[in-house]
Amino acid sequence: MIPYARQSIDQSDISAVVEVLQSDWLTQGPLIERFEQAIAQRCGARHAVAVCNATAGLHLACLAAGLGSGDWLWTSPISFVASANCGRYCGASVDFVDIDPHTLTLDAAALALKLEQAARQGRLPKVVVAVAFAGQSADMRSIKALARQYGFTLIEDAAHAVGARYAGVAVGNGEFADMTVFSFHPVKIITSAEGGMVLTHRADLAQRLRLLRSHGVTRDSSQMTEESHGAWYYQQLELGFNYRITDLQAALGLSQLARLDEFLDRRRALAARYQTLLTSLPLRLQAPQPEAESAWHLFVVRLQGAHMQRSHREVFDGMRAAGVGVNLHYIPIHLQPYYRELGFKPGDFPQAEAYYAGALSLPMYPGLTEAQQDHVVDSLRGLLT
Ligand SMILES: Cc1ncc(COP(=O)(O)O)c(C=O)c1O
Repeated sequence: MIPYARQSIDQSDISAVVEVLQSDWLTQGPLIERFEQAIAQRCGARHAVAVCNATAGLHLACLAAGLGSGDWLWTSPISFVASANCGRYCGASVDFVDIDPHTLTLDAAALALKLEQAARQGRLPKVVVAVAFAGQSADMRSIKALARQYGFTLIEDAAHAVGARYAGVAVGNGEFADMTVFSFHPVKIITSAEGGMVLTHRADLAQRLRLLRSHGVTRDSSQMTEESHGAWYYQQLELGFNYRITDLQAALGLSQLARLDEFLDRRRALAARYQTLLTSLPLRLQAPQPEAESAWHLFVVRLQGAHMQRSHREVFDGMRAAGVGVNLHYIPIHLQPYYRELGFKPGDFPQAEAYYAGALSLPMYPGLTEAQQDHVVDSLRGLLT
């Protein structure tokens, strides 16, 4: 089976991890800071805080933004559930803004309308999580302008978008979001096995993220409420978590970061090749977002209802039967049983639901060969024509 995504691990990655195993530190050692600095430098961010996964990163980002009970977090319904769950972890209410049917990212015009209404009702969100879906940022310029106007904290969920760019700068750079969250899960652009990072330009947010990442405990005497008792002394200032990454993971992440441009080139070439090979098929592709350069985490297609000989499900099953591990990103979050319990229902976000009715993610990862890609396209053609 050709998978939809797969990590690319070479000898340099293996050696980097083995070196850590032979060193003094398996966790809380020097490689974590080196990984943070390398990502910060690559993205042009002032601060980067490594965490055990992007879900933890989103949770901490929401806490650092002051999100709590009585507040609202808004996000896109077409994302992994973590983009919304981070609000629930903080005790906040969650709501969604429908996607733009072309770019498949949070629709900035729909956001503007919903904010106008929310302002009248006194229910403005404290946090908006804009998802860089499939590796492509949303209309961050417009969303940032709305963040200024309405005073919400803007978090970019860039789990898919390590190495992507927006308006000429790296995603994560801090120009368009207060905080950006990356994932290093094996299916993503680079991997540290599990792992994530929160990037920000703001020193106050970075300090809070670091504190909360490690139990709310500090050894920095300038943060303490009383004089240090001695070299052993630490204080717990608030209720934090153990959301730390290990040195083993940071070593793998660093080694993968050195290969990021190689991965991005390959993903771009595969995306361009899909675009050419799929032109004659009755499919809609994700439209480019002006100013965005995707990292091509996913290659998503939508079946065009009117011309379909087979149902969406038949095409999905037919692809799997042909040895192509297609996937579907994502089931609209508001239709998950947990969110329905909170009052959401079918029809709430029609663009997200229409997308879900015809979506398919085709295999996309650096090790995908052209022969395999041809097999994907031929299988799809056989099912659609
Ligand atoms: C958009 C998005 N956000 C957040 C996450 C959570 O990432 P992690 O697995 O690193 O916690 C994922 C993972 O699939 C994702 O796709």
